[in-house]
Amino acid sequence: MEKMKQRVRKAVFPVAGLGTRFLPATKAMPKEMLPVVDRPLIQHVVDEAREAGIEHFIFVTGRNKGVIEDHFDRQFELEMTLLERQKHEALEFMSQDLPIPGSTSFTRQQEPLGLGHAVWCARELIGREPFALLLPDVLVQHSRGCLAQMLDAARELDEKANVVAVEEVPRERVDQYGVVGVGARKGKTFAITSMVEKPSVDRAPSNLILTGRYILQPEILDILQTQERGAGGEIQLTDAMIQLSRTQGFYGLQFEGRSFDCGSKIGFLTANVSYALERKDIAPGFRAEIKKILGELNGG
Ligand code: G1P
Repeated sequence: MEKMKQRVRKAVFPVAGLGTRFLPATKAMPKEMLPVVDRPLIQHVVDEAREAGIEHFIFVTGRNKGVIEDHFDRQFELEMTLLERQKHEALEFMSQDLPIPGSTSFTRQQEPLGLGHAVWCARELIGREPFALLLPDVLVQHSRGCLAQMLDAARELDEKANVVAVEEVPRERVDQYGVVGVGARKGKTFAITSMVEKPSVDRAPSNLILTGRYILQPEILDILQTQERGAGGEIQLTDAMIQLSRTQGFYGLQFEGRSFDCGSKIGFLTANVSYALERKDIAPGFRAEIKKILGELNGG
């Protein structure tokens, strides 16, 4: 069979969600701009895509998300001020993060109709090539990014393969996610035998859930064109993937690394702690402060 020859050049980031779980922090600011240490969530996810070789970054935004577009643009006044004040290190950081001109696109999801609908809104920008999809609520911490691991694995599969990142969760939590059924192993991946969005615990095919990283073939867009509403009254990407899996292979990769569901307060706060402890510049001081807090909590 033909190996995946066509490179995955484009990544889609659905960033139209309201972020109600973080109100009032997200009243006037998109949830994707909440910082994990000193980088916005969306920047961490774009970093992961960039590390994997992605060249074009497609954002599906909504109302009140303009700051995300500004974040990926130059900020001349700030740059001038930093230059005048000889803040060369800060300037260097900013230029490292800046996408090359023409490598970002922004489109809008006009109504909150679900993840499947958000992806469909990007169809003209994606065109007819395989693409990556990264949900910015999820961060994966590892020396090799999750998407890079998926693309490594995809090289061993046939050209029309779809690959999704999966991980285990305690069985009682499967009803919050898309869940996959596990088939034969193929290299680092396994064939997916079934998928179901937010199943009840007794109907879930396993406790392996979709983590929020996907490599998809463009035919998914044709299916989304007519996809009916599913779980929660939303147009579900998982439902479109089920249909596509009748004609194309779907493979799961149990990636290496720790994931954080930054859509929840505990996941977001834990991500901040974990990322801060990985940073050479702040880890020693931060660790000492955490020890103090924990010591006080334990009555020490
Ligand atoms: C979405 C997907 C779900 C996946 C989850 C990962 O759900 O529909 O399949 O498991 O992201 O975070 P949502 O979190 O938007 O409800």
